[in-house]
Amino acid sequence: ELGPYSHFMQKEIHEQPRALADTIEPVMIDGFSPALFGPDAAGLLADVRSVQILACGTSYYAGLTARYWVEAIAGLPCSVEIASEYRYRDAVADPKQLIVTISQSGETLDTMEALKYAKSLGQDKTLSICNVPESAIPRASRMVFYTRAGAEIGVASTKAFTTQLIALFALTGTLAKLNGRLDTEKEAAMLQDLRLLPGSVQAALNLEPQVTAWANLFAPKQHALFLGRGLHYPIALEGALKLKEISYIHAEAYPAGELKHGPLALVDEAMPVVVIAPNDALLEKVKSNIQEVRARGGEMFVFADADSHFSESEGVHVIRTPRHVGLLSPVVHAIPVQILAYHAALAKGTDVDKPRNLAKSVTVE
Ligand code: F6R
Repeated sequence: ELGPYSHFMQKEIHEQPRALADTIEPVMIDGFSPALFGPDAAGLLADVRSVQILACGTSYYAGLTARYWVEAIAGLPCSVEIASEYRYRDAVADPKQLIVTISQSGETLDTMEALKYAKSLGQDKTLSICNVPESAIPRASRMVFYTRAGAEIGVASTKAFTTQLIALFALTGTLAKLNGRLDTEKEAAMLQDLRLLPGSVQAALNLEPQVTAWANLFAPKQHALFLGRGLHYPIALEGALKLKEISYIHAEAYPAGELKHGPLALVDEAMPVVVIAPNDALLEKVKSNIQEVRARGGEMFVFADADSHFSESEGVHVIRTPRHVGLLSPVVHAIPVQILAYHAALAKGTDVDKPRNLAKSVTVE
């Protein structure tokens, strides 16, 4: 079943070009259309005025990424909340708010309870993004988008995450269109970006030997810091989560602009700092943030595309990621952080597919 791979996680990382292409397929056929989200979606999505995303763990980070898209492209206010928090606070109901739950398994209890709570407040526009057909959360939702990642067996989520991002990008395009913010030209450009994505992801997978060399340097470390900004901040969060859950190295992620408000105090020669820094609107800001790290002796590991113009120097390692792919860049940059965590865990000899204390599907509170 594993084929040439040593673990399910490695296999699932490498399946991503296929999983993404499969998930993109219906979008290529229908374009951005409510039909992607089921028979009731045309009516339910027509008058959406804001979006509330609810999820846990890696699925929550997919939601955090989508917030940038929904606000920038669809022009709708979007908030993202950890399901186990939302379910216990007094949320203000809004019948024109779209509730989006994201869950690979479709069985996560906290996400299910958050959905039930939203429904009890009278929220009727409920959409589930899920990888397991007929699981509990999509069954309790009025609309559904099934990601086509295929069964995910490794406890650490990989292909489910990147396919969730596709679902959220398709949702963004659909809401933008319904909101009168997407002309034919812009839609065609977004669809073209989607079409090219599996190829860029394959190019990112081809970086495995270089990323592995870095991972071997990480294995003996106690701590690591991940930095990103804007669209790439959630990828820094995801990189830190992957590293801690399978290699047990303590990792934290910060938006790079937040460094001097506290975490810079942690930086010294023993602290490797991973930076997700492709060429985007905030690149120059990231560059000045990381000079602060370098000045404190922190060793930097930078993922940057050719347009970022980063060069290697004393204490600064650079891996060139595939050229900037616009708004979908977070999908491409998720790949190297997954590979980094996988190989760091391998070097440490931990149980990659079944990390201690964790379950694949969390059906208890
Ligand atoms: C991390 C991971 C978990 C899950 C979380 C939600 O690698 O796998 O953080 O993302 O438990 O699970 P689902 O998406 O099944 O609701």
